[in-house]
Amino acid sequence: MRIDIITCLPKLLESPFGDSILKRAQDKGLVEVNIHDLRAYSNDKHRKIDDYAFGGGAGMVMMIDPIANCMEALKKDREYDEIIYMSPDGEQFSQNVANELSLKKNIMILCGHYKGVDERVREHLITREISIGDYVLSGGELAAAVVSDAVIRLLPGVLSDETSALTDSFQDGLVAPPVYTRPSEYKGMKVPDVLLSGHERKIQDWRFDQAVERTKQRRPDFDKE
Ligand code: ADE
Repeated sequence: MRIDIITCLPKLLESPFGDSILKRAQDKGLVEVNIHDLRAYSNDKHRKIDDYAFGGGAGMVMMIDPIANCMEALKKDREYDEIIYMSPDGEQFSQNVANELSLKKNIMILCGHYKGVDERVREHLITREISIGDYVLSGGELAAAVVSDAVIRLLPGVLSDETSALTDSFQDGLVAPPVYTRPSEYKGMKVPDVLLSGHERKIQDWRFDQAVERTKQRRPDFDKE
């Protein structure tokens, strides 16, 4: 899989992709993530990428030409399955959307800023708009990192068998059961006996029951999905 992220703040994305699972996935060749500095595609000698809104109003708007230049350059070399714009008014991101995206080959993600992008970008250059939640971030970068993380950890080989994404909360419509580690007793707080019993079958049943109970309590909405 290949993910191309277009941003005017490339530094903001260095850290999420330069560490831990996302870095290992790239090192193993399971995903290629390329960050593109939008300013490098500006037609302007001052590398300008935004301008005042026609009709007035506060806030700058990202211009279409640097974005189109960058997208065209990328599209010359490969076809994209999805060109995503991160936006608070997009489709709500979910595990289902992550699963779907993890099956794609090439994805482009445009990070918005300021008061948004020229509407013609959204109308003509984008195939999909995604929001990570009902709140406004100062830019799409952190949202793009969230989406990429959720997608990349699903790619075969990224996680080991034990930590496989298939056993995640949400994948089976249940939240995860509680987990414990040593010590088995801390200041009078004890780990449930069944987990120390060594009885594999009982442990599995207990975990399942806990997951069902927790889902009822915490996410009753899961039922309806
Ligand atoms: N850009 C700003 N806020 C956002 C959000 N909630 N989701 C995706 N992109 C965004």
